[in-house]
Amino acid sequence: MDYSNLSLFRPQMEYRRFGKTNKHLSVITLGGMRFKHAHQLPRHEVPHDTLNQASQTVQMALEQGINLIETAYGYTKSETIFGRVLNQELKVKRDRYFLMTKGNPKTAEATRQLVEEQLKTLQTDYFDFYAWHGINTPELLEQACAPGGPVETLLQLKEEGVIGHVGFSTHAPLHVILKAIETDLFDFVNLHYYYFFQRNEPAIALAQQKDMGVFIISPNDKGGRLFSPPPKLQQLTAPLSPLQWNARFCLSNPGVHTLSFGLNEPEHFDPLNGIFPAPSPLSADDLRIKRLLDEQVAEVPYADFNGYAMENDPSGLNIPEILRFRKLWKCYDMKAFGEYRYNMFQEKDHWFPGQFPTEENLQQIDLSRCPEGIPIAKLIRETHEGLYRPK
Ligand SMILES: NC(=O)c1ccc[n+]([C@@H]2O[C@H](COP(=O)([O-])OP(=O)(O)OC[C@H]3O[C@@H](n4cnc5c(N)ncnc54)[C@H](OP(=O)(O)O)[C@@H]3O)[C@@H](O)[C@H]2O)c1
Repeated sequence: MDYSNLSLFRPQMEYRRFGKTNKHLSVITLGGMRFKHAHQLPRHEVPHDTLNQASQTVQMALEQGINLIETAYGYTKSETIFGRVLNQELKVKRDRYFLMTKGNPKTAEATRQLVEEQLKTLQTDYFDFYAWHGINTPELLEQACAPGGPVETLLQLKEEGVIGHVGFSTHAPLHVILKAIETDLFDFVNLHYYYFFQRNEPAIALAQQKDMGVFIISPNDKGGRLFSPPPKLQQLTAPLSPLQWNARFCLSNPGVHTLSFGLNEPEHFDPLNGIFPAPSPLSADDLRIKRLLDEQVAEVPYADFNGYAMENDPSGLNIPEILRFRKLWKCYDMKAFGEYRYNMFQEKDHWFPGQFPTEENLQQIDLSRCPEGIPIAKLIRETHEGLYRPK
């Protein structure tokens, strides 16, 4: 295919205005965290088979009408791969796709240096979107947004025409995300929001009020490992697959603009056809599925208690997430997802905070934030026994 004439828009894809950036993005983004990287090689060396696989993925994505490619400095070879594929392998004209990258430099000087290196690696002279990667804590918010700091430098680079729009990505508690949006420094936000994780809905509402772009990260993997669902979940979302249902659920929120799929195999493109048209609000059939899913929660004692008010508990336990993994396991048989995520506690620092329970930290739970009648320690112990897998 000759990519020199490729249009930014294709009929089978849907597009949404990415808030005040005024760019019309495909509702599916090509997320670049998943290429088979051969980590033992130096950063800029890419094995042939990785390059071939990436070329095929980018080609299929463009043919499907995907017009946003997303990567980050932290995804090891991803920027190198996209730079090579877009410019040498496929020679795609730069105005035929939008490019988003991310980085988390700590100072103004480091920001300029990093952006310069990323431009070189991605073989471009501008980024449409640049996100400060991982505003995950109040301290990181302060550091990123300090006067004369990294975000201010990114905004200068915007003035200089090197960056189109500055945003941030986040895994933070809701109150930090709201605070970051309230700074009014950012044009867009990359966050988690799925049927099985709706905590960030108020952040989407605030972003919508401020006319910001909203980009959803990892809808299939962090969204519940929806690509390998248990039979119960498959039955509940039929005739859609859980992956398709969740995409339609996310897109039924008019404040959501694009979902970043980590597409890296030709087969990953097949389910896209069941997602569109994605109505907002949900269609009657989708509402029927939502009701069925919602109803499962009433069947399991305490599954409707989300523990959001117990975030940042002094015990160090990530109570809302523990309760969520219990709910997904008990209500939807999503035990494999629970095991996968639960066992990431104590590994990922501020990207996924939380301690495993001990008799000592269970004693430190702030019970004043727990409604009477909720046996919180018992629910936590039960979840730990079911999901913990010693390394
Ligand atoms: N800002 C942040 O901090 C942050 C954090 C996480 C992710 N992200 C961004 O979000 C992007 C997407 O995240 P993700 O890679 O976790 O995406 P995802 O689409 O949620 O999950 C990708 C995983 O799903 C599997 N899969 C199966 N069927 C698929 C299908 N039809 N479409 C897509 N994937 C399918 C893939 O399979 P295989 O096992 O075969 O690869 C892969 O393991 C990333 O590339 C990254 O840029 C950002």
